[in-house]
Amino acid sequence: MSDAAQQAASAAQALQEAATAAGRAPSVHNTQPWRWVSVPQALELWADRSRQLHVADPDGRLLTISCGAALQHACLALRAAGWEPAVHRLPDPAHPNLLAQVTVTGHHNPAAQERRLMQATEQRHTDRRPSAEQAPPAQSIELIRQAAVAEGANLHPLSGDGLDDLAVAAARANEIGLADPDQREEMGYWIGGRRAAWTGVPDDVVPEREPHTDVPGRDFGRRGTLAVGEGHSRADVYMILFMPGDGPKDWLRAGEALSACWLKATDLGIAVLPLSSVVEVPATREVLHRMLAGVGQPMLVLRFGMADPDQPPIAQTPRLPGERVVREGRFPKP
Ligand SMILES: Cc1cc2nc3c(=O)[nH]c(=O)nc-3n(C[C@H](O)[C@H](O)[C@H](O)COP(=O)(O)O)c2cc1C
Repeated sequence: MSDAAQQAASAAQALQEAATAAGRAPSVHNTQPWRWVSVPQALELWADRSRQLHVADPDGRLLTISCGAALQHACLALRAAGWEPAVHRLPDPAHPNLLAQVTVTGHHNPAAQERRLMQATEQRHTDRRPSAEQAPPAQSIELIRQAAVAEGANLHPLSGDGLDDLAVAAARANEIGLADPDQREEMGYWIGGRRAAWTGVPDDVVPEREPHTDVPGRDFGRRGTLAVGEGHSRADVYMILFMPGDGPKDWLRAGEALSACWLKATDLGIAVLPLSSVVEVPATREVLHRMLAGVGQPMLVLRFGMADPDQPPIAQTPRLPGERVVREGRFPKP
C-alpha cells in the first residue's frame, strides 16, 4: 500500500473510532438520536427522528442539541488521537437530517488538556442529587463559560430574582408536562426500569424522592431508586446556555458547547445537571428569553455544583453498541 493510501486508511479508521467514542455523549432522556455514516474519507452525522421526543420536543431542538454533543465528542476523540478534524455543519439543504460532515485535514499534536477532556468523556454523567454545600469556585465557572464561548455559545448566570423566577418556571414546566397524557406516555417509554435495550434513563439514576434543591429538577412522573440524602444544595450556580439565534445550526452548536463545558466541568470536579423542561414549554422558554434581555435565545438551563464527596459514585447510563450507531454507506432518507 502506498503512503497516501495508508494515510487515508488510518484516517478512515480514526473517523470510525471517533464515531464510536461519541456514543458516550449525553442526550435528552438518553435517546441517543444520532447515527453516523462512514463514507469515503468522511463521517456523516444524521439525526435519527425515530428517537425524537415528538411530544416534548416537536421542533427537534433537544434532539439536535444532543447530536451536537455527540459531534463535539467525536471531534475531541479525533484530536486526542492525533487528527485535525474539519466540520461542515448542515451541508445539504435537501437533507436537513444530515447534520454534519466530519473530515480530517491532517495530523494534530494532542495537547495534555485534550487528553484529559477525552478521559472526562468516560467519567461524565448526569447527577440529579443535591450537590455539596460549598459553592463551585468562580474561576472554575469562568473556565466552563469560556469552553462554551469557544463553541460559539454563552452562559448567562442567574441570581436573586432571576433564580426565583427560574424556580417558578421550572415548577410550572414540570406541571404542564405532567398534565399532558401524551407527554406522560412518552416519558414512560424512555424513563425507568432496567433499560435492557441500551437507551433511556434507568431507575438507578432517577431520584427515589424529590431532592432538596433551590430550583426543581425535571419531574419524571415516577420514583427511581437513586438515594438523594437529606442535603440541600444552596450554593449551586444556574446558568442559561444561549445562542444568537434559534435555528437548527444554533441548536447543533449549542450541543457542541454543552458537551465542551460539561467535559470541562467534569475535569474540574463540578457536577452538571441540564434542565430542559423549561425550554420545552413555550411559555417558560419565553420567561428565559426575557431574562436574557435580548442578548440571545435560550437553549438549556444548566446547574453546576460541587459533587458531594459523601455520596457514592453514580451508575452509568446504558449506550447503544457501536455497530448499531455507526455504519457504512448512506443513512436511509426519511
Ligand atoms: C439536551 C439535553 C437535555 C437534557 N435534559 C435533562 C433534564 O431536563 N433533566 C434531567 O434530569 N436530565 C436531562 N438531561 C440529561 C440526560 O438525561 C442524560 O444525559 C442521559 O440520560 C444520559 O446520561 P448521562 O448524562 O449520565 O450519560 C439532558 C441531556 C441533554 C443532552
